[in-house]
Amino acid sequence: MKVTVVGAGSVGATCADNIARAALCEELVLLDIKEGLAEGKAMDMMQTAALLKFETKITGSTNDYAKTKGSDVVVVTSGIPRKPGMTREELIGINAGIVKTVTQNILEHSPNTVIIIISNPMDTMTYLALRSSGVPKNQIIGLGGILDSSRFKYYLSQALAASPNDIQGIVIGGHGDTTMIPLTRLATYQGTPVSAYASAETLNKVAADTMVGGATLTRLIGTSAWYAPGASGADMVKAILRDEKRLIPSSVYLEGEYGQKDICLGVPVIIGKKGWEKIIDYNLNEEEKALFSKSAEAVRSMNSVLNTL
Ligand code: 2OP
Repeated sequence: MKVTVVGAGSVGATCADNIARAALCEELVLLDIKEGLAEGKAMDMMQTAALLKFETKITGSTNDYAKTKGSDVVVVTSGIPRKPGMTREELIGINAGIVKTVTQNILEHSPNTVIIIISNPMDTMTYLALRSSGVPKNQIIGLGGILDSSRFKYYLSQALAASPNDIQGIVIGGHGDTTMIPLTRLATYQGTPVSAYASAETLNKVAADTMVGGATLTRLIGTSAWYAPGASGADMVKAILRDEKRLIPSSVYLEGEYGQKDICLGVPVIIGKKGWEKIIDYNLNEEEKALFSKSAEAVRSMNSVLNTL
């Protein structure tokens, strides 16, 4: 098995580190446009192999896509991260050109690879990668829901004074501060609705904190978060390589599902070796449906900016 991570910044390097530690593949290529950066980080990680006892061979490359040939999965983290006070949407001008070129280069050497897009604004970058490449829709997955759901479980666990591992919760919709939809109605504490343990007011705050989870970290750290996004990328790679058929909320191309078409947006999907395989219908109630339409409207208006670039 071979995995490529494009972008050796904090998210890409953390993702690669998690992939190696979990022994998910034999070969791992880290690629970056900045001379020597990927080679250096790959070497640094390889110097942990004898300590952490992993066998994955990690190599770095400065923009040489020939090294990525034959990848089973490629994680795209390229582009600029947001700074405090910025929304993910403000990155579109710079990141669109980067994501389009990266996708083309990747597919030239690995035409059947599954591509995971983490670059922001993620739903629009996923749509761009799919539309500009013309590959089958199942090959392109936008990573947002897995990360936002993990943040949702964190905030729920804090509110309930419980372990995050005992909480189930899912976030659908866009991966934006105002477009995310934490599905509080369906969140449980080991099978019991979370509403049995926390007031509506507390749960509303949990949802609001989840939606700005990334912005809160950007404000604290001074740049975009990387531990949770990197670990999310590695977990998604695992689900694909091991054909786990796990239900992971992800941004995928909709053709009428959830009432939307010609858009990539976060919905519950089954992930396996072919990429995303099936969309699960959660039977949203009227309020959730309205939020989903509103989220789609915002993402669609962001997608329309692509035509002006
Ligand atoms: C985040 O929410 C990187 O968009 C990503 O942290």
